[in-house]
Amino acid sequence: MSSTSEMPMVMAGGRLAMLTAHLVPSTEPNDHAPVLEPQSLSAAISPPGNLKGTLTIVDERTGKRYQVEVSEEGTVKATDLKKISTGKNDKGLKLYDPGYLNTAPVRSTICYIDGDEGILRYRGYPIEELAEKSTFMETAYLIMYGNLPSESQLADWEFAISQHSAVPQGVLDIIQSMPHDAHPMGVLVSAISALSVFHPDANPALRGLDVYNSKQVRDKQIARIIGKITTIAAAAYLRMAGRPPVLPSNHLSYTENFLYMLDSFANRSYKPNPRLTRVLDIIFILHAEHEMNCSTSTVRHLASSGVDVYTAIAGGVGALYGPLHGGANEAVLKMLSEIGSVENIPEFIEGVKARKRKLSGFGHRVYKNYDPRAKVIRRLAEEVFSIVGRDPLIEVAVALEKVALSDEFFIKRRLYPNVDFYSGLIYRAMGFPPEYFTVLFAIPRMAGYLAHWRESLDDPDTKIMRPQQVYTGEWLRHYTPIHQRPVSSNADKLGQVAVSNASRRRLAGSGV
Ligand code: CMC
Repeated sequence: MSSTSEMPMVMAGGRLAMLTAHLVPSTEPNDHAPVLEPQSLSAAISPPGNLKGTLTIVDERTGKRYQVEVSEEGTVKATDLKKISTGKNDKGLKLYDPGYLNTAPVRSTICYIDGDEGILRYRGYPIEELAEKSTFMETAYLIMYGNLPSESQLADWEFAISQHSAVPQGVLDIIQSMPHDAHPMGVLVSAISALSVFHPDANPALRGLDVYNSKQVRDKQIARIIGKITTIAAAAYLRMAGRPPVLPSNHLSYTENFLYMLDSFANRSYKPNPRLTRVLDIIFILHAEHEMNCSTSTVRHLASSGVDVYTAIAGGVGALYGPLHGGANEAVLKMLSEIGSVENIPEFIEGVKARKRKLSGFGHRVYKNYDPRAKVIRRLAEEVFSIVGRDPLIEVAVALEKVALSDEFFIKRRLYPNVDFYSGLIYRAMGFPPEYFTVLFAIPRMAGYLAHWRESLDDPDTKIMRPQQVYTGEWLRHYTPIHQRPVSSNADKLGQVAVSNASRRRLAGSGV
């Protein structure tokens, strides 16, 4: 292959040219400043201080007074409320909190978010600083072990991860056997879940619940998952393109190796574009962790049962797949394509206000201000466009944001762009198909999931997660034989299950 060492660049250029045909060629020179200029940090706020105290509750139903301890962190124990009861048949006061809007099932030192101020910090470091100065590998170490690594710690970390980047052939075979139009997130969930059976050495169901007490065993699973996720993700990508998986390279950085597996056609001398690599690395930093979001809390929930870490993480990735969570970036791009041009925005916004649909990439459970990750991503979009050309949909996105941010509907509800609003445009410009966008979110989020898994194993407060419910059903009924049951036409029942023509043909035959 040495005589054709130029070939992979040409091929990758060809792939980029094909996938980015919608982009307007860039007129900017390619050799400009660093990827991210220093950015002003989000507002500096003081820590809340010691909030310890006592809460006195007067139950107007009974006239009784109760004292409840408030912790230094400003929390009350939900179980302390159980003692507030009206009498014998009342099991005590419960918190009714659909969607966990104000319930904290864990204490954590990993990530801090102030949604009102638009602050995000990993282990105390502002996200803007990490995006500008750090690398994904370094940030992942920080998230996992609490501090930025020394040179030798970083080298050991990168080495361990690259040593575990190969994926068992059986997992690659599973990926290859998926239908041609399988969603890559479905492929990812299945492959991570399959890793569980390929690593019985780390399975508490086989080796006992204390298997994870060993730091060595834990660290090995961490290196395995962070190492293998890019190889699995690349295999899922290549399968969509009808190409065989490419073995990882140990000589490249984490993010470079990922792009290498996508684009090298197994040519060992191929090197991805350094500026595009840096952009993707920054995107990985931005997505690495986000405290108790839907998927991370899913991982903690599953891990609390003592299940193996692969199954717990596969469950988390399943949650991330949803369009209200990590799947929103895919939804944004579909939405922007549907809107098509700036003049169609008013009609679209009216549809959102009439609740016909949601403005994807807007709003967040925690951020009631501009998502700090969205600010960085917006700047990265320009960097990517300067390399591969400008995506015309960026004009629609910018105009849509402007209209929404000045509209009373969105102002009143404090709806701002979130991390997914601009990321899809970058991914598309980089040649990724929309259904692959959430995979690019899942890769770096392994760091966050695993840090939470580790933290939960060490937390003496960890218990199997088992929320309560408020029972509102029938109180007590007695069984009646089938012929004596009253039939109500209003009662819920099995509806019409759609039958395909193929089933009709089969049912029309004999012997069924
Ligand atoms: N478009 C239109 N209206 C919205 C939107 C939106 N994107 N988001 C919230 N609202 C409205 C919502 O209808 C409700 O109005 P009202 O009080 O009149 O009924 C109000 O704002 C509060 O919304 P909510 O649904 O109660 O808020 P939530 O915290 O339960 O949901 C959310 C948060 C992210 C699911 C929601 O904002 C949403 O669906 N956004 C679009 C999907 C999206 O971009 N998701 C990515 C989130 S960031 C990355 C990640 O977490 O993975």
